Amino acid sequence: MLTTILTLVGLVWTLSTLSGAVKLVRLYLLTPSKLHRYVYHSSTSNSSVRDEKEQQKEPWAVVTGASDGIGRVLAQELATAGLNVVLHGRNTTKLEKVQAELKKAHPARSFRLLVADASLVRGATSLSTGAGSGGDHDKGQLLGLDVEAMTKKELDGLHITVLVNNVGGGVKNPLMGDFLEYSPRQNAEAVSKESLFAMHLTHALLPQLRKNRPGGALIISVGSMADVGMPLTAMYSACKAFNKALFETLALEDRLARIDDRKGNGDERSNVEIMYVRLGDVTDVSWRRGAGTLTMPDSRTAARAILARVGCGKSVVTAYWTHELIRVSTGALPDWLLERLLLSIMSGWRASVERNGGDASASIVGNGFFQ
Ligand SMILES: NC(=O)c1ccc[n+]([C@@H]2O[C@H](COP(=O)([O-])OP(=O)(O)OC[C@H]3O[C@@H](n4cnc5c(N)ncnc54)[C@H](OP(=O)(O)O)[C@@H]3O)[C@@H](O)[C@H]2O)c1
Repeated sequence: MLTTILTLVGLVWTLSTLSGAVKLVRLYLLTPSKLHRYVYHSSTSNSSVRDEKEQQKEPWAVVTGASDGIGRVLAQELATAGLNVVLHGRNTTKLEKVQAELKKAHPARSFRLLVADASLVRGATSLSTGAGSGGDHDKGQLLGLDVEAMTKKELDGLHITVLVNNVGGGVKNPLMGDFLEYSPRQNAEAVSKESLFAMHLTHALLPQLRKNRPGGALIISVGSMADVGMPLTAMYSACKAFNKALFETLALEDRLARIDDRKGNGDERSNVEIMYVRLGDVTDVSWRRGAGTLTMPDSRTAARAILARVGCGKSVVTAYWTHELIRVSTGALPDWLLERLLLSIMSGWRASVERNGGDASASIVGNGFFQ
C-alpha cells in the first residue's frame, strides 16, 4: 500500500516537473517575440487628410525612465526594432546624452524628450487649494503634475504604438527600509513614481492606442518579483502589486472590448496587448553597476528579455528564465517556509547595509529575488 502511494506521489511529481519544464522551454526558447507587429506606419481612412506624411505617420514608442538602467536599453532596443522613441526622465542633461547616443546609432530614427518628475503627480484631494469648507474639491485648484495635460501637450499627434511604463525602482529613494523610516510625503512620492504616473499616462494614451490601425498597440508595465510582498520594501512591493492588478485587469478589459465588438455592442475595435512583465535582480542599472550573472542579468539582457516576451499570450509574465525558475521553485514552498526565506534574505540585506555604513547600493548582494 505504502509503495503504491509513494509511486503515485512520485509519478505526479515527475509529471508536474516535466510539464513545468516543457512550459519553460516553450515560453523562453520556442516562442519568438512579436514586437515587429507594432512597427508599422499609421493609415487613416480620413480622406480630408491630404498630406501623405499625415496619412502615413511613423511609429513611436514612449519609454518612461529612459535616462538610465533598463529603460535606457529598452529605448535602444526599440530603436533597433525600427521605432522612433520618446525618452522620458527628470534629468534633461542625462536624457540629452542618451538622445545623442541613440541618434548616432540610429540616424534614420527620431527621438524626443519628455521631462517630468514622476514622483510629483498630483493627488486627488490632498493638494487642493481653495476648496470649499463643505469639501467641494472641484472648486479648488489641484497642484502637482497633471499627466493628462502633459500628454496632450507633449505627445499629441504622434502615432504611438508602444508604451513602456518603466520608471521606478532603485535604492537611492525612500523605498528600501522599514516602513516607519519614511515620512508620509516620501511614501506618497513613491506611490506617484511607481504607480500613479503609469496609471495616468496609460489612461491618457489608451483611447488613442485603441484606435490604432491597422496593427494595434502594446503597453508594458515593468514589474518586479517583489510584488509578492518583500519586507523592507513595503511601498515598492505594494506599488508593484497595484501595477500587476491594474495592467492584468486592463488586458482583460481589452479582451472584453473585442468580445463586445464582435457582438455589435462595442463602438471601437480594440487591439491593445497589455503586459505586466516581472523581473528579479538586475545589474548595470543606476544604483548597481557591474557585469551580469546567471541569476542577476545585466540591464541589456533584462531589456531584451522583456521585449522577447511580447506576443507570448500572457498578460503577466516573468521576463527572464532564471527569475522564473526562482519564482516557480519558491512559489512551490509552503507559506511558512517562503516567509522564513524572505525574512532571512531581507535581514541579511539589512545587516549588510549596516556593515557598509548605511550605503544600501554597496550592500545589495544579488540573490536573484531581491527586487
Ligand atoms: N534593477 C533591478 O534589479 C530591478 C528588478 C526588478 C524590477 N526593476 C524595475 O525596472 C524598472 C527600471 O529600474 P532600473 O533598475 O533600471 O532603475 P534605474 O537604473 O535607477 O533607472 C530608473 C530610471 O527612472 C528614472 N527616474 C527615477 N525617478 C524618477 C522620477 N521621479 N521622475 C522621472 N524619472 C525618474 C531614472 O532617471 P535618473 O537617471 O534621473 O535617475 C532612470 O531613467 C523599475 O520599474 C524597477 O522597479 C528593476
